[in-house]
Amino acid sequence: MTQDELKQAVAEAAVEYILPLLEEDTIVGVGTGSTANMFIDELAKHKHLFDGTVASSEASADRLKGHGIPVYDLNSVSSIRVYVDGADESNDHLHLIKGGGAALTREKIVAAVSEEFVCIADESKLVKVLGDFPLPVEVIPMARSYVARELVKLGGDPVYREGVVTDNGNHILDVYNMQIVDPIKLESQINEIVGVVTNGLFAARPANVLLLGTQSGVKTLK
Ligand code: A5P
Repeated sequence: MTQDELKQAVAEAAVEYILPLLEEDTIVGVGTGSTANMFIDELAKHKHLFDGTVASSEASADRLKGHGIPVYDLNSVSSIRVYVDGADESNDHLHLIKGGGAALTREKIVAAVSEEFVCIADESKLVKVLGDFPLPVEVIPMARSYVARELVKLGGDPVYREGVVTDNGNHILDVYNMQIVDPIKLESQINEIVGVVTNGLFAARPANVLLLGTQSGVKTLK
């Protein structure tokens, strides 16, 4: 199977996984990226079973609305039953690196609110140690150079993602050459730097379930 076929398989598996959770008042959190897009297209086949969604990006909101699926402002809903999203890397504790699509802050907010976080990814995303994928950090634009110098002190090589402005109007630094052996500690350390909005480590709030697309089928890791 190609990587896209593996992503499609986990998108379908995610819909099967959440089907028992869908009721007329259920709100589903929806992530961002190519795997999440496939999930949106599968979810649309069942749009009559639930109330609506909260999206982690404008791009996903547009795709959901294109299918006729309601998209709510997070401030207008009291809970999100389940959140489905991709990842750039996962370790076997389901600590993640996210933000390759620059949606990390809204993704982290939706993950925090959600009762359950179902991560969907092809097998290339599962790693022993996080950090081969450069860690995205969303920064307030005026603080970009300062934050970059502080990230160097933590051992990373930050690179400004030129031309990218997040949905929140901020910039992204991608931090290379981090071997992240303690993701919970590093997530907290980076968030303490003044000017950082958030970083792409999802370790304090990891995924609850990882549906991993492999050549021998979709595996469920918890
Ligand atoms: C978006 O900001 C990211 O967190 C995505 O979830 C991540 O980049 C996965 O994207 P793909 O599904 O396209 O690999």
